Amino acid sequence: MRVVILEDAQQVGSWAAEYIGRLVRQKPTVVLGLATGGTPVLCYQRIIAMHQEEGLSFSRVRTFNLDEYVGLPADDPNSYRSFMRQQLFDHIDIPASSTHVPDGMATDVTEHCRHYEQQIQDVGGIDLQLLGIGSDGHIAFNEPGSSLASRTRLKALAARTLQDNARFFGTLERVPRLAITMGVGTILEARQCLLLATGENKATAIRDAIEGPLTSQITASALQLHPQATLVLDEAAAAKLEQADYYRKAEALQVGC
Ligand code: PGA
Repeated sequence: MRVVILEDAQQVGSWAAEYIGRLVRQKPTVVLGLATGGTPVLCYQRIIAMHQEEGLSFSRVRTFNLDEYVGLPADDPNSYRSFMRQQLFDHIDIPASSTHVPDGMATDVTEHCRHYEQQIQDVGGIDLQLLGIGSDGHIAFNEPGSSLASRTRLKALAARTLQDNARFFGTLERVPRLAITMGVGTILEARQCLLLATGENKATAIRDAIEGPLTSQITASALQLHPQATLVLDEAAAAKLEQADYYRKAEALQVGC
C-alpha cells in the first residue's frame, strides 16, 4: 500500500483531485468509482476548479458511486444522487447518463444490485475507486462483519454509522437504516483504489486498516490485498500509525506500494 501523509484536509483534497485529473487527461474515457460523505468534498471542489479554470473535460468519463440509502428517491436532498449532483456532477460537463448511483427506490433490490454489477462489467470495470473510511473502519457501507468477497447488495447500517451520518439529516431517527452498497469484492476489482481520510476521528480506523490484521471487522483492511491501493491522510488521521516515519520516507523515495 502507498501511504501518503499530508498536512491537512485541504492538501488531501488537492492531492486526490490532481491524481484523478491526471488519470482523466491520460484516459478521457476513464471509469471512476466515486464516494460521498464529508471527506471527498474538497477533492470535488478542486476537480470543479480544474474543469472551470483549466478546461479539464469529463464529457467521456463514466462514474459509479459506491452506495445509496434505501427509501430515498434520487431527488431527495439527502440522497447520495443529490449529493453528487450538488458537489460535483452539476458543475462539470459529465452527461447525466454516464453517472451511476444505486437506486434507493428499486423494487427488486437483488435484481438491481445484479444489474449494477453488470453495468460495471459492461464498461470494462472501474479504473479508479475513490473511497472514504468510516470511523468503524468501513469502506462504502460494508459494515463490520461484511464478507471480504461481498458484492453489491442490501446492507443494514451499523449504530456508529447511523450516529456519524445523523449530522446530514438533523436527527438520528431520520437516517435510513438500510443502504445498497458495492461489496468489498466489487471494490477490490477496481484497478486502483484511492482512500482519503482526514481528522482525528479516523485515526483508529486508519491504524487498524493499514497496520492491523486483515479482518471483516475493519473492511478497509481488505485494501491490504489490493496491489494498487493508495491511502492519502492528513496528520490527524495518520496520528496513530506506528510506521508513519517509514511511510514518509518511502513516499520521499517514491517506492510506495
Ligand atoms: P465521511 O464518511 O467522509 O463523511 O467521514 C466516510 C465514510 O463513511 O466512508
